[in-house]
Amino acid sequence: MLPYARQGLDAEAGAREFEDLARSAGAEVLACVPARVVAPHPRFYIGSGKADELKDLIAALDADLVLVDHTLSPVQERNLEQYLGVRVVDRTGLILDIFAQRARSHEGKLEVELAQLKHLATRLVRGWTHLERQRGGIGLRGPGETQLETDRRLLAERVRQLQKRLERVRTQRGQQRRARLDAGMPRVALVGYTNAGKSTLFNALTRSAVYAADQLFATLDPTVRRIENLDCGPVVLADTVGFVRNLPHDLVAAFRATLAEARDADLLLHVTDAADPERERRVDVVDAVLEEIGAGQVPQLAVFNKIDRLQSPVPCGAEDAGEPRRVWISAARGLGLDALRTALAQRLGGARVRGALHLEPAAGRLRARLRTLGAIREEHFDARGWHLDIDAPRALLEPLRREGGTALERLLAGSA
Ligand code: GTP
Repeated sequence: MLPYARQGLDAEAGAREFEDLARSAGAEVLACVPARVVAPHPRFYIGSGKADELKDLIAALDADLVLVDHTLSPVQERNLEQYLGVRVVDRTGLILDIFAQRARSHEGKLEVELAQLKHLATRLVRGWTHLERQRGGIGLRGPGETQLETDRRLLAERVRQLQKRLERVRTQRGQQRRARLDAGMPRVALVGYTNAGKSTLFNALTRSAVYAADQLFATLDPTVRRIENLDCGPVVLADTVGFVRNLPHDLVAAFRATLAEARDADLLLHVTDAADPERERRVDVVDAVLEEIGAGQVPQLAVFNKIDRLQSPVPCGAEDAGEPRRVWISAARGLGLDALRTALAQRLGGARVRGALHLEPAAGRLRARLRTLGAIREEHFDARGWHLDIDAPRALLEPLRREGGTALERLLAGSA
């Protein structure tokens, strides 16, 4: 196994991350070969001298796979494979392979298979016979290698089928999301660099057993649960996919279900491994991905996790008085979780409107809408009209401002 990293500004950090990804996919890393690619070579992407160097190294180490930390064209991948005599998988192929191993929900599995088939469709023409003995490894999981060898029409048919099924699943999912919105609960999404500890925190906050493993990308699908015991009332918490730098663009599009959770959230819990020497850089990577998926404007609460691993201990809990912006915790040890709950409630509290609302008897339609939105905690009706006890996210009530007249206006102003 031979990861092959490019050189550049962040060469070392990039190479380390790529090695982590390779291990995460189950590969054993034998060597890491940096290469400066100024003008990509059309035949191999790398220069021919570098290709010779690789060939010798493969023979010396008895490696059977080359991973390239870059997107290769199908032709480059095929040429390199034929020249080196071992399988070559590019960055997109590697990430897809990891996603294929981690997908848990039905939708996630369909999304991965579709992305894999699309990625492979362009590479179908290559001859696999010389690699026959290496079947079943990285880059060949998921749709299965027999699929690779069948003709393009079959593949196109499968892609169409998958797209149809995905559409159905997405419609159902959309309905579930709407039902959740109607329940009027604020939504919080966990985002962060892969392996930061999102699933562990998700479990700690919701006390459920979502799969957590010391592997990159342990989470692929958004997993959604309620947190009940908060001062601001119940909230919906969604776990999302781990972010990495240079997440291939077609993958960002493919994983829109999980990414939509971040975009539509009222608050993002941005989880970072506090003990990671690269932590500042990883925060930037996550912010860049968030920007790219249209979630750059969603308010964030920074959560520094794994404080148990820090050399010089920091006190756990929220850092700031007033509106908390940074919280230090250990999800695995359960440190700082109460402070995090309090901070969460504080940050979401302003987003909630609570209080009495009096409506004229003729305002039955507005009252019915509030009821459908789940905004009414208690109510009674008498000759003067409707007496409502309101408790709902501000975002839900704002659109009713005009229809609601001065009474609602006053309630919204009072809760600001
Ligand atoms: P992806 O799904 O890859 O994005 O990962 P994730 O961010 O969901 O991370 P996950 O919760 O799977 O945790 C990654 C590893 O970090 C696991 O081995 C956890 O046990 C470990 N971990 C999580 N929280 C802590 C912590 O507070 N302290 C320590 N020491 N380890 C932790």
